[in-house]
Amino acid sequence: MSPRNPSTDNLPAAVTDTVTVQSPNVKYTEQYIESKYEYQTTKVEETCGRFTVTPKTESYVFRTERQVPRLGVMLVGWGGNNGTTVTAAVLANKSKLSWHTKEGVRHADYLGSITQASTVSLGTGPEGEVFIPFKSLLPMVDANDIVFDGWDISSLNMGEAMKRAQVLDYNLQTQLYPLMTKMKPRPSIYIPEFIAANQKDRADNCLTGTKWEMIEKIREDMRDFKRKQQLDKIIVLWTANTERFSDVQEGLNDTAENLLASIKKDASEVSPSTLFAVASILEGVTYINGSPQNTFVPGVIELAEQKRVFIGGDDFKSGQTKMKSVLVDFLVSAGIKPVSIVSYNHLGNNDGKNLSAPQTFRSKEISKTNVVDDMVASNSILYKPNEKPDHCVVIKYVPYVGDSKRAMDEYTSEIMMGGRSTIVIHNTCEDSLLASPLILDLAIIAELCERIQLRRAEESEKEFQRFNSALSMLSILCKAPLTPRGTPVSNAFFRQKACIENIFRACLGLSPLNHMALEYKMEVIAPEFQHCMSKAEVSTHDSQISTMKKAAVKVVQNESSLQAEGSNKVF
Ligand SMILES: NC(=O)c1ccc[n+]([C@@H]2O[C@H](COP(=O)([O-])OP(=O)(O)OC[C@H]3O[C@@H](n4cnc5c(N)ncnc54)[C@H](O)[C@@H]3O)[C@@H](O)[C@H]2O)c1
Repeated sequence: MSPRNPSTDNLPAAVTDTVTVQSPNVKYTEQYIESKYEYQTTKVEETCGRFTVTPKTESYVFRTERQVPRLGVMLVGWGGNNGTTVTAAVLANKSKLSWHTKEGVRHADYLGSITQASTVSLGTGPEGEVFIPFKSLLPMVDANDIVFDGWDISSLNMGEAMKRAQVLDYNLQTQLYPLMTKMKPRPSIYIPEFIAANQKDRADNCLTGTKWEMIEKIREDMRDFKRKQQLDKIIVLWTANTERFSDVQEGLNDTAENLLASIKKDASEVSPSTLFAVASILEGVTYINGSPQNTFVPGVIELAEQKRVFIGGDDFKSGQTKMKSVLVDFLVSAGIKPVSIVSYNHLGNNDGKNLSAPQTFRSKEISKTNVVDDMVASNSILYKPNEKPDHCVVIKYVPYVGDSKRAMDEYTSEIMMGGRSTIVIHNTCEDSLLASPLILDLAIIAELCERIQLRRAEESEKEFQRFNSALSMLSILCKAPLTPRGTPVSNAFFRQKACIENIFRACLGLSPLNHMALEYKMEVIAPEFQHCMSKAEVSTHDSQISTMKKAAVKVVQNESSLQAEGSNKVF
């Protein structure tokens, strides 16, 4: 029988968590998990190339609300490939659908989602390291319970839009079609000059009126969805077409006040995505940008800070860039110097069609290019200040390949003594099947972050804070992560994963995972850690140790007898 934890014994079953921590530093109440946490960092000072390092420990209190809300997600661009695919995937999982393919029967799943399909290590159990589903670490929204709604400038119902996307197998589409035809995107804000001219044909579901009136309508839609579906909370996520960058101008969008005034004056240089962000912030709703454009002009960031609302993005990190954020980290960490990175893509879906216009392509190029900067800057042995690898990104629209994007990368690196190493990758990225799990993760992690508060231990209860409005915890899911102004960006995939895992562990009062595995590195491994070895290995190991010990005793004896003999022989 597992030991009792008096602090959790009286809780209602509905809020009893998968993981219970037994520690004087962790308190469970009906409403919260509260943990005291020692945050250990180091302060580094440099003088003339010499470093002085001072370990620092700060005490924090984390408080995580336990009640998981009924969550609605509103997608801008709901009728697109990502919007239809993620909606279909949740319906299929919820209804436990299976379908026939030419390879056999396939069952609905959430592969590619960090929250739904990856695990985290909890620590060491009687049988070795214990891994649990990521989603069980803290109380999180179940992906199957998310309710979708959204807007699209195309009026097709979601059943027809799913067919148009040509992403899912036919036998799955036929099962989902009756459910999805009942769903219809709400009319949206269409300003033709922000996306490619080739999108005009599908724009038959557009709001009219001034920019401010459209914001009011979008806000009304959010309230309507929340009310009709009896939701506790909603999140809005942009998965509509990539827009061109907006100009950032003094007096236009540089402050919250100027931005709101510009919208009220119907200023032309305020994009639809910025209008959606402003509507969400004014409604107190988290807003996430899955595309590369600069929705978050300074005025939006300031408004989000003022209203204490989360914003996150930019641009889903789904295929080629995700790979890059692992591979370049590996090369640079291994002391190998990437000098040229050339990335070609061709794709044939509507996203590719929209990106075939130079201004929208430029937005994508910017977000794809900066991804290696922090990794390169981390190694001053390989790179001089401001030196960077040549980095080129090309995207072409090839209708035939549809949603099955092909990404071809060539990484050329300098190795020892003038050598060259070239890695060539051909990556078939089924675009929307890679992006859809990220949409779920973005919503689930952002929602959880809304329930976490923290303060320094010496501060009073009143001083609990939320995470910064620029929710950098979402970085792992984004190509160009938004971070609080002036703070560093981290693009390396495994650093980003460690960051969220360790912050969620902190919410449970658990120390960060350090992978030191000291318990397995001692000369004599304590019996409680010998679980990984078979009995035979354990006894061989034990006998090796005892032979080593006997040998050591013999050497000492020999040395003493030599000394006793007065020998000065040098070994
Ligand atoms: N792997 C990926 O699929 C991936 C990765 C990173 C980023 N993205 C970005 O995600 C976005 C969506 O990708 P997709 O493949 O679903 O594209 P898509 O073209 O199939 O879907 C976009 C939808 O947005 C709609 N739309 C355009 N402007 C709108 C507006 N102002 N309001 C409401 N709806 C509007 C379109 O009608 C379309 O249905 C793109 O910007 C793409 O660059 C996708």
